[in-house]
Amino acid sequence: MAHKIAPSILASDFSNLQSACEIIENSAADWYHIDVMDGVFVPNISFGMPVIKAIKPHSTKTFDVHLMIVDPDRYIKDFKAVGADILTVHYEACPHLHRTLQAIKAEGMQAGVALNPHTPISLLEDVINDIDLVCIMSVNPGFGGQSFIENTYDKVRMLRKMIDDKSASTLIEIDGGVTSANAKKLIDAGADVLVAGSFVFKSADPKKTCNELKELVG
Ligand code: DX5
Ligand code: ZN
Repeated sequence: MAHKIAPSILASDFSNLQSACEIIENSAADWYHIDVMDGVFVPNISFGMPVIKAIKPHSTKTFDVHLMIVDPDRYIKDFKAVGADILTVHYEACPHLHRTLQAIKAEGMQAGVALNPHTPISLLEDVINDIDLVCIMSVNPGFGGQSFIENTYDKVRMLRKMIDDKSASTLIEIDGGVTSANAKKLIDAGADVLVAGSFVFKSADPKKTCNELKELVG
């Protein structure tokens, strides 16, 4: 499988989201990474369903929606309705994670689970075969532009081993502080998908940056 690049529109110019869509559509980027924050699970508020609905008609690529919200079960149908293809919930926000995963899949979406930096990989052992994507947070969720946490490499290797040992087909996504300086090392550790916000959208030529990152990870 070719490795994937998912630019996070959180770092884009919110006054011109159509331009962010064009960058993703016209580059080698694979997915849209869409960060939804509720101001409760994380200390920041981003955007929600109306914004996702507004950009959907301008896009053809996969919508990878990362929910940083409490009680995500309440909104699964709503995110499906506005165009989510992959819906990722936080382990720390889901007391009945297995049920949540089934509910996401019942809506025809792929089900993802995100882990905060302090949450061990081992906690996923009993549900790994039910998860389409694990998003390893390589920063504390809530803000773009933070520094990459180095312990992430060990977590990727541990998760890769768990997935292989259990013959699961789960994708490993890395979210936070991804740049051309750590991208290759993450792929070599076993990652499948790299989210990049600031590195792409704060660069001089975001489309070119997407293409270079994609080239780098192969
Ligand atoms: C952080 C978000 C990330 C963020 C990544 O809470 O989940 O997706 O947009 O941004 P960068 O790449 O700038 O760290
Ligand atoms: Zn994210």
